[in-house]
Amino acid sequence: MTTTATEIVLPGKVEPEGLRTRSHVIAEPAAGQVLVRMEATGVSFAEQQMRRGKYYDQPAFPFVPGYDVVGVVEATGPGVDPALAGRRVAALTKIGGWSSHLLLAADAVVPVPEGVSAADAETLVVNGITAWQMLHRTAKIRPGQTVLVLGANGGVGSTLVQLARAAGVRVIGTASPRHHDAVRALGATPLDYRAPDLYDQIRALAPNGVDAVFDHVGGAGIVESFRLLAPGGTLVSYGTASTRDQEGSSRLPVLKLIGRLLWWNALPNRRHTSFFNIWTGVRDKARFHAKLRHDLGQVFDLLADGTLQAQVAARFPLADASAALRLAESGTVAGKVVLVP
Ligand SMILES: NC(=O)c1ccc[n+]([C@@H]2O[C@H](COP(=O)([O-])OP(=O)(O)OC[C@H]3O[C@@H](n4cnc5c(N)ncnc54)[C@H](OP(=O)(O)O)[C@@H]3O)[C@@H](O)[C@H]2O)c1
Repeated sequence: MTTTATEIVLPGKVEPEGLRTRSHVIAEPAAGQVLVRMEATGVSFAEQQMRRGKYYDQPAFPFVPGYDVVGVVEATGPGVDPALAGRRVAALTKIGGWSSHLLLAADAVVPVPEGVSAADAETLVVNGITAWQMLHRTAKIRPGQTVLVLGANGGVGSTLVQLARAAGVRVIGTASPRHHDAVRALGATPLDYRAPDLYDQIRALAPNGVDAVFDHVGGAGIVESFRLLAPGGTLVSYGTASTRDQEGSSRLPVLKLIGRLLWWNALPNRRHTSFFNIWTGVRDKARFHAKLRHDLGQVFDLLADGTLQAQVAARFPLADASAALRLAESGTVAGKVVLVP
């Protein structure tokens, strides 16, 4: 049986309307592979950077975007447990997710628990892994602590808030005022990131400093994020969203940021900084995938038992990826924009 994949292509530096659609016949799964029929994929901040040529690890154009995917295993290749066929699975892909069908390494897929919908699971693949690892592996949060989450309405941000709350941590979350009710509903205290006295407001809420700051914005504000830390606190930096629209190197802003973090770590200030990268350790594939299965498994369990609420901001058919990307970039969104077949 031949399978035809329909996929969305980013042909070069284009506006969202410049995305193209193409179809091609997909091969049978090779040894160690599974063929997955996509049920849900999504728009991440990475695609907003990639269409500007501004993603740190920018792929060469043209390519199929799509950082993560949820779907059903349609066929298994030689050496793969045939029981995987028919299972709903999730995968972190970085690119390639915006496709009706994909060939994936069987080791790289994570089963989605029974009763969890594809769209709900999709909101927590890259977002869930990123948030869980930053909270539990990098900052090592403990109950009773207070943390600051920048962009608490975003895909990663809203997941950070929920996972931190589930771990008994108090959360202060920055967001535009239009999202304050949503951020409050997740259990965080919302503050407007454009308020001139933002940092005074944070200090009033946490006079002794916060135990961790999760900062994906970078730029000049990273200094303030560091200053907010209580002794023993951790600044987890994981992006430079503030430089998305600047021309120039996609790597320089990140490298400059990492240099600054290393400098702060070298100083005797009882505070720690770290740049989180979800792909750290990927060269050791077996270990990387085992860690991913464990961490995403934890997140999915919390989704299945109702501790986490999936934040589906909007749903678009894959064919309307341009409109989905446009919406994701509008600054009006709370949660994850999901693409379905
Ligand atoms: N290091 C890693 O491994 C890793 C992995 C995954 C994601 N990330 C990073 O995580 C971040 C969030 O990704 P996402 O997919 O969750 O994005 P998203 O859903 O689009 O959310 C982005 C959030 O950032 C806010 N924001 C955007 N630009 C900002 C700016 N200049 N100043 C202040 N706030 C700003 C947005 O606020 P408004 O809604 O008000 O615009 C929104 O709350 C991105 O920077 C991404 O690169 C890093």
